[in-house]
Amino acid sequence: MSEHSTYTPNNAVEKWFDDRLPVVRFAKEHLMDFPTPKNLNYFWTFGAILVMCLGIQIVTGIILAMHYTPNVAMAFDSVEHIRRDVNGGRMIQAFHAVGASMFFVALYIHIFRGMYYGSYKAPREILWILGVLIFLLTMATAFMGYVLPWGQMSGWAAQVITNIFSYIPIVGTPLLELLRGGFTVGNPTLNRFFSLHYLLPFVIAAVVALHIWALHVPGNNNPVGVDVKSSRDTVPFHPYYTMKDLFGMVLFLIPFVWFAFFAPDILGHPDNYVMYNSQVTPSHIVPEWYFLPFYAILRAIDFNFLFINSGLLGVIFFGASILILFFLPWLDTSKVRSGNFRPMFKWFFLIFLVNFIALTYLGAAPAEGIYVILAKICTAYYFIHFLVILPVLSRIETPAPLPTSISESVLGKAHA
Ligand code: HEM
Repeated sequence: MSEHSTYTPNNAVEKWFDDRLPVVRFAKEHLMDFPTPKNLNYFWTFGAILVMCLGIQIVTGIILAMHYTPNVAMAFDSVEHIRRDVNGGRMIQAFHAVGASMFFVALYIHIFRGMYYGSYKAPREILWILGVLIFLLTMATAFMGYVLPWGQMSGWAAQVITNIFSYIPIVGTPLLELLRGGFTVGNPTLNRFFSLHYLLPFVIAAVVALHIWALHVPGNNNPVGVDVKSSRDTVPFHPYYTMKDLFGMVLFLIPFVWFAFFAPDILGHPDNYVMYNSQVTPSHIVPEWYFLPFYAILRAIDFNFLFINSGLLGVIFFGASILILFFLPWLDTSKVRSGNFRPMFKWFFLIFLVNFIALTYLGAAPAEGIYVILAKICTAYYFIHFLVILPVLSRIETPAPLPTSISESVLGKAHA
């Protein structure tokens, strides 16, 4: 049944249950006894923080849906009704809106952690691929959620983003009409977005279950990236990491509740407090901050190439910028996982991070003058990092000597 589980049923009823549906045994094995490397740092608490974020979004979302009306004539006012009239509505709406931003803060930290410590490398490729899938699903969910309040940014974001699909040859126009539920963004669009926005978090939850399953087969990676060699390298998940994760969650909740209590609207766009009007285009259409790097890449491609027009080329680069993450395990073939022991990779990782932040900035900057040139340079660098730098580094870099075990890295050679 289980190699790690120390579960022994205490009485006949527990035994009867355990023989038929061993959920208690399963929970004890995976949430309590699970052998976890003893050197995990606070970056490893973000997986648990993300589970908490997903939980907060689902619980607050279900309550919001009890009072929200997915109809173009009433959606905007129904959100206002939630904020003003529903008991606790102001807080629930604030937690859901701020929660979306906090979710992406945690996601980006979690992803960059994996990239630095090489957690995508064998034997964790499937775990990584499921993570990228979660990232895609979360972006789709957040985008559709942003449309629901039916403000100016909601409607115009829906226009701009659904329009992207129209550049795809042959299937583009039918796809666009399928997404919108008609020729323009309107009531059918709002209805299908509401339906999918409600559905997708549960799909995400299911993929998260697979993600954690795929984690529990090889076990965690760790900051030094060497495999667990003996039981001296690990501690049981409970109480060591249940406590550390809980503490990480509490720390993360401090800025979270600060925003929700004191500046609930600061992360949103002022135009979204004006109801959507298809006849009035906002002067500057910007997506939420967490989409900006990819939006910058989409806008940077404003030229035709051979027979491909700029619209389609932009879509190709936009899609490729996310899909390339699926191939990361095979682009970086260095045997050493952790960036701590890769003297060149360390610096290129830092440049990649700065470049990503620059793309975020450029995604919100006006598409003119120097910004356009910088966006093109940063876009080029983004792809060069994956397609040139990582494969070349894997060949030419001489890694620093690795500790022989996790214990040695924690206690030093003498005590390991
Ligand atoms: C709702 C979103 C997500 C949830 C709830 C989630 C949950 C978790 C949890 C609980 C862990 C174990 C604890 C930890 O290492 O932090 C984990 C590990 C991991 N996750 Fe995620 N994850 C999510 C999204 C992602 C995404 C988007 C990626 C990558 C694109 C990703 C890649 C990984 C990797 C590579 C590990 C193994 C870490 C290691 O042991 O080094 N996850 N995830």
